[in-house]
Amino acid sequence: MKEKRRFDEGFDNILIYDYDQAYQDGNRISGELLPTAGNRPVVSLNGEWHFCPDVFNSMVRSRWFEETRVNRDGLPLPYDFDFEKWDTVSVPGVWNNQKAEYALYEGPGIYFTIFDYERKPKKRVFLRMEAANYETRIWLNSVYLGRHLGGFTPFAAEITEYLKSQGNRLMILADNTRKGEQVPSVHYDWFNYGGIHRGVELIETPDICIRSVFLQLSPDKEQTLEYRLYLSVNSGEMIEKEAEIVIKELGQGWKVRCEKGENGEWKAAGCLDIDESCLKLWSPEQPFLYHVTVSCGNDVFRDTVGFRRITSQNRQIFLNGKQIFLRGMCVHEESAIHLRSMTEDEMEETLKAAKELGCNFLRLTHYPHNERMAKLADRMGIMLWEEIPVYWALEFENPKTMADAKGQLCELILRDWNRASVIIWSVGNENPDTDARYHFMKTLVDTARELDQSRLIGAACLIDVETHRIKDRLLSCLDVAGINEYYGWYLKDYGELRDILDHYDGEKPIIVTETGAEAALGIRGSATQVYTEECQAAIYEKQFEILFSYPFIRGITPWILYDYASMRRANVLQKGYNLKGLIGSDHRSRKLAWNVVKRAYERKEREENG
Ligand code: GCU
Repeated sequence: MKEKRRFDEGFDNILIYDYDQAYQDGNRISGELLPTAGNRPVVSLNGEWHFCPDVFNSMVRSRWFEETRVNRDGLPLPYDFDFEKWDTVSVPGVWNNQKAEYALYEGPGIYFTIFDYERKPKKRVFLRMEAANYETRIWLNSVYLGRHLGGFTPFAAEITEYLKSQGNRLMILADNTRKGEQVPSVHYDWFNYGGIHRGVELIETPDICIRSVFLQLSPDKEQTLEYRLYLSVNSGEMIEKEAEIVIKELGQGWKVRCEKGENGEWKAAGCLDIDESCLKLWSPEQPFLYHVTVSCGNDVFRDTVGFRRITSQNRQIFLNGKQIFLRGMCVHEESAIHLRSMTEDEMEETLKAAKELGCNFLRLTHYPHNERMAKLADRMGIMLWEEIPVYWALEFENPKTMADAKGQLCELILRDWNRASVIIWSVGNENPDTDARYHFMKTLVDTARELDQSRLIGAACLIDVETHRIKDRLLSCLDVAGINEYYGWYLKDYGELRDILDHYDGEKPIIVTETGAEAALGIRGSATQVYTEECQAAIYEKQFEILFSYPFIRGITPWILYDYASMRRANVLQKGYNLKGLIGSDHRSRKLAWNVVKRAYERKEREENG
């Protein structure tokens, strides 16, 4: 890389154009290479951080991160930054609700904090970010650590060698500018919140650390657990070749051998014999979690894991060998008070509302939600559809877009692959059925299957409304066929919906991944008057009447549990909100359609459970 000139050696901050090239390096921060928290003790960096919008990319263009205040002769120079004197914003938090002028801001934002860290011998330190939207670059004590792409998945950087014991200066540039090559691209139906919207923490590990653990029931071998341990070995050869897996409630432990793979990575993988008759299999009715401890050398990784099998065959979905019907709803990650930066209590409120509605399933749209959502769902017994934002039209032929989508998918799977509640990985939503998109999505399906054979792979596909058929070529690669249809709202002839379903000849179970209608809270009128609560309720009635009559429809996740912010919804009733919620954007006020869904799910549960 060409020697970077200091600010005082020229005015390249105003004359050069490719100032950004040197800061595209993304291979030092990622969610795949470095430890997940694993319930280790962490040092939280959450709190008030200094912040400044960076409309002209000055952080990179003028290399503010160098904090040059004197020239080579030590004479004072003018400077245009004041990291520790800028106003503060909350981390985690989106900048949009922290100052009026930030409400609609899209662009780079500079975050700054100072922290002390007591160095310990033979300890490694990682900076882990749960998520920041969209492009994140990190400098520690003026050293550029790297770049992460993706607004909703965790990533980490090892900072051991850059840490000082006092006054570490951490600068994070989060940029939520929408770009064609990104995932999602420039057009989508939710609000583009910006910033470090989830937590930031320091993770301390021994020299040899357990980076990631997978432990699930084998999808195809009875009486068998499959395990995969990935280690991060910092220096030279590994001393300890053995690891131990203990499942407390079973009073069982297994010693497993760690090997160095061809790619130089230390790992252990294989099968453990287990007597499944002693297992309490996880289900919504019995969300039992086991305390798992994995130790290797001086490192200990702890997790609470539910064991269950999810499979699909002959147009049915099975949980632990029993046919199930997924009574669900779609939900965006947004709260009335904290917007995208939901608190754990707000997540729990969402799950409680879903259970009260009679749901056993939630489709977390259209991007990976906070990692606490799946942990809560494990405990509360709600199954989940998790999705990456391969949404509508993307640059399917752009290798950068492919790499970004794969990165987000791997980071999501590595984060949640021990969550019993997660039963479906979704690779996208409503993409046009073109050759480029098929190859792009097939690559994602193959990537997901390679990482995790213990779950179903899905996507929310479009119906061909010209021929009234379900014929998206992607369905051939999926375990479940997600279809979005809005008959009654965008399309008016319910006969077409019956025609589509009458002619469905695929062998995959169908989940209706979206259906619904808008209603402005409190607007009452006739069932044929759009935007009234009666109209939304009537469409739900009709939809359930039709959809419940097809035995190959094995799940429904209507759009959507709550009204939510979207800048492309601007009529005088919407005022910047998509009003298809059963509950208003206050996350309290329920519409007439709430009772329609509740009654329908009560009926469906009685039918399914006999
Ligand atoms: C689409 C899309 C949603 C969108 C919804 C709507 O199906 O998947 O993200 O908000 O339609 O039109 O409200």
